[in-house]
Amino acid sequence: MVCVYDSGVGGVSTLMALRRLVPTVDVCYLGDTARVPYGPRDAATVCRYATEALDYLAALRPEAILVACGTVSTVALPHLRGRYPLPVYGVAEAGIRAAAALGARRLAVLGTEATVRSGIFARRLSECLPSAEVRSVACPLFVALAEAGLTAPDDPLPRLVAERTLAPLFDLEPEAILLACTHFPWLSPHVRRLFPTAHLIDCGAAAAAALAPTLGERGRGECRFLVTDGSEAFRRLYGRLTGDAAPPLVETVALS
Ligand code: DGL
Repeated sequence: MVCVYDSGVGGVSTLMALRRLVPTVDVCYLGDTARVPYGPRDAATVCRYATEALDYLAALRPEAILVACGTVSTVALPHLRGRYPLPVYGVAEAGIRAAAALGARRLAVLGTEATVRSGIFARRLSECLPSAEVRSVACPLFVALAEAGLTAPDDPLPRLVAERTLAPLFDLEPEAILLACTHFPWLSPHVRRLFPTAHLIDCGAAAAAALAPTLGERGRGECRFLVTDGSEAFRRLYGRLTGDAAPPLVETVALS
């Protein structure tokens, strides 16, 4: 069994990518919905939340944990390596490698405030692609829109938010756009509409692709959903975003 963890519903995009690659893997998904969003919070707070969530998941004895959260991957994971006797993967390195492999000359990184403030994506990309121009933009309203289920391609609200938020990228004309937050793939049609020729890189999907071949254990493709608040609301939101007419049952758990 593999655990997948995010602050909310963002990591479901990563979970879906993993299940497409390894449909027989059993997964336990945790969304820390009582405390989403993580992006505007201080690094120390994100580290505390992540430690509580990972301690909880490690006690379930999974084969591996995939932190399907760009914020935790950049802000907390570097401090938590070695705390757990099992592999704990983030989404940052896989996303950076996928972006570097494209060899783009103009790159945009879309993340939460905490991810952009950490500077990790921009720094690592500049190391991998020294002559590339890299510009980072914080998109906190994308997280709010995904958590509200307001992502439909024909909805004028996310369209307007995308236009305003991504305006600082218009003159860059990015060749590649790294979605460094797992909530953002839910809004990718709105990003694509503004930058139709850019490659969109989903760092959660890239991490799922890196994890899939390492998984030894196979199960029956079961998926257990845990949240820290609002299990019914999460179930409805899951159904709305994934189009699943019979969304799974969701349990509420306390992390500490
Ligand atoms: N999905 C998360 C990320 O990848 C967290 C977004 C948030 O909670 O602000 O960064």
